Amino acid sequence: MKLSKIVIASCLVLTGFGASAQKAARDAKMDAYINKLMAKMTIDEKIGQLNLPSIGFDVTGPILSQGVEGKIEKGMVGGVFNTYTPNAVRKLQELAIKKTRLKIPLLFGYDVIHGHRTIFPIPLGLSASWDMPLIQKTARAAADEATADGLNWVFSPMVDIARDPRWGRVAEGGGEDTWLGSQIAIAMVKGYQGEKNDLRREDAVLACVKHFALYGAAEAGRDYNTVDMSMRKMTETYLPAYKAAVDAGVATVMSSFNEINGVPAAANHWLLTDLLRNQWGFNGMVATDYTAIMELKNHGMGDDAQVAKLALVAGNDMDMVSDLFIGELKKLVQAKKLDVKYIDLACRRVLESKYKLGLFDDPYRNISEDRAKNNIMNAEKLALAKEAAEKSMVLLKNDNSTLPLKSGQKIAFVGPMVKNQRDLIGNWSGAGDWKKAVSFWDALQAQYPSNKFTYAKGANILDDQALIDKLNPHDAQIVLDSKSPADLIKEAVNNAKDADVVVAMLGEAFGMSGEAASRSDIGLPVNQQNLLKALRETGKPIVLVLMNGRPLTLQWEHDNTAAILETWFPGTKAGDAIADVLFGKYNPSGKLTMTFPRSVGQVPIYYNAKSTGRPVSDQKYTSKYLDIPNTPLYPFGHGLSYTTFGYSDVKLSKTSIRNGERLQASVTLSNTGKYDGEETVQLYIRDMVGSVTRPLKELKGFQKIYLKAGESKTVTFNVSTDDLKFYDINMKYTTEPGDFKLFIGSSSADVKEADFKLL
Ligand code: NOJ
Repeated sequence: MKLSKIVIASCLVLTGFGASAQKAARDAKMDAYINKLMAKMTIDEKIGQLNLPSIGFDVTGPILSQGVEGKIEKGMVGGVFNTYTPNAVRKLQELAIKKTRLKIPLLFGYDVIHGHRTIFPIPLGLSASWDMPLIQKTARAAADEATADGLNWVFSPMVDIARDPRWGRVAEGGGEDTWLGSQIAIAMVKGYQGEKNDLRREDAVLACVKHFALYGAAEAGRDYNTVDMSMRKMTETYLPAYKAAVDAGVATVMSSFNEINGVPAAANHWLLTDLLRNQWGFNGMVATDYTAIMELKNHGMGDDAQVAKLALVAGNDMDMVSDLFIGELKKLVQAKKLDVKYIDLACRRVLESKYKLGLFDDPYRNISEDRAKNNIMNAEKLALAKEAAEKSMVLLKNDNSTLPLKSGQKIAFVGPMVKNQRDLIGNWSGAGDWKKAVSFWDALQAQYPSNKFTYAKGANILDDQALIDKLNPHDAQIVLDSKSPADLIKEAVNNAKDADVVVAMLGEAFGMSGEAASRSDIGLPVNQQNLLKALRETGKPIVLVLMNGRPLTLQWEHDNTAAILETWFPGTKAGDAIADVLFGKYNPSGKLTMTFPRSVGQVPIYYNAKSTGRPVSDQKYTSKYLDIPNTPLYPFGHGLSYTTFGYSDVKLSKTSIRNGERLQASVTLSNTGKYDGEETVQLYIRDMVGSVTRPLKELKGFQKIYLKAGESKTVTFNVSTDDLKFYDINMKYTTEPGDFKLFIGSSSADVKEADFKLL
């Protein structure tokens, strides 16, 4: 009863989303094949297809998946995840093909999030490249390695818009912006599934857009927490990136852990059926997240039978790890509490996914040790990893051109990240081998050897053993140095005193961001801050090189260092990339995709906020804090270069347009500094008056422009009236005539503006 109310309300509201291209795409041959197969299937065999256990190890929850091989033989498994390599996959696939009555092949999924074996920067880092072809290439490379390892399904891209850096999973997504996040979603789907969406290619995988939906809006940034959000906000801000993935042809969707306005996503019929399938036209398969059906009991949605039914009827096709579809669905049908049509429908979608991959023709998809040997971590992929790492790095500040480092300088390299290998590949790099990652120190010795460089660890990543114990308990742990914290600092300070410049490489351990890694304090760990403060006392210029998975609060660091380079977790080629950036072989070009707050008290903070009725000013009764400015430390879109870029005023081809017309907005961009370099020129728009309030700025385009020192170029954007559309007072996606502002610049807070009208 409750459900139908939600359905009606939402259908009225979300008319703005058009159905995607997926809807039309039915394949008569596939339908005939699957009809024939399903006619032979028993109810047990059908329910078996809906089961998705973890095999090998359980990473993100309780160890539940037991006796999976036996279940495969009995036809109780549709797909597995958490295993890879040609051998392991072949063995399991053989169980399905040789031992089960109907020989239906298995799906093999895995969390291939930012590379498979070759690890690229964490997604938040990659997004800072603003380089869609590059992002697509990394997903393509990941798919190539994953398929060479026997996989056919990746649990990526994660496109959860996130505006609360306390949430550790901001590391896994593309940041705070809807428009940019949507571009990234498209690039990644194309990368995984192939430009033409030809899933039968031996190097294509099913992509899985997640976590549907709104997982990034967990209250207070605490993982798995409640989401309560207006229809307007979800429609404008949070849903478009998933929709972009659907429109790009994503083959699968993962429903999320969180509730949405009182109904958990995994039990949310409105979300998974009315919106996703009926309105958006998604025709692929939906899998739950890890034990999400079981967790419906904790949400207070009923007992095993009730939650299994809710999840299936809502629109989930595969049950990840809960074992509740195989445990409950048949009994429900026998008790006449569940219409078997729901099982048929879900089974059909799972089989369709297998059909699309060509698994019925070749369950092994050409996996061979040879392909693995030739394709995994080959020279081309390692070069891409280096390029991606370099392009992801963001130069946050650089006083007095402290960077790049100059040859002949005496440099004290200090900090737990200098020789670190374990953390370089970041979170969600399950098949990545951190021992194959290049440490900064090794790269330095190989590429820029000098007897003027010293090293001191200076601090452990963390000193707090209680916190260390909570990080990735099954993974390599931080081992505290045998020297005391005071001795570590002393050694570092001694080196610093003797140097021309200090490079302090600090940050988070990889387990401090990612899943189940929310933090209420997003500063550098206190012991690392102590190190930095002691270094500051030496009076030597400090270059802070950061490795972390989220925006940090860095006000003190900003005020007390000469330069700051954000490197995220850069991946397999971390060391080489950092060395090249620090020494100027690569001129940094990354731009933030998530705002860095001054303090956690400003969170959530994002660039496209609303005006309010009392915009911040010197007046007392305006929207602001008493103790801190409203502005962030580093705004969305911010990122410096070793060179400087000058922007002319904005020129418009006309100052008024009619619906359906375009206008050209241009600036002359000049490289006014000494280095060749690349700038990401950003275009924002503000609708000055609307039937509903509009954000102060919204990103609508960008161009990456490479200029040699001294060179200038006119950069022109074509603005169409589609760029001016929004959800009006009736939730209709449309334009309203009136005044607009257009901004072009080098960050959301550093722009030139011009005015125009929509007639
Ligand atoms: C839980 C995570 O939320 C999801 O992102 C991941 O894909 C699954 N576990 C499978 O490991």
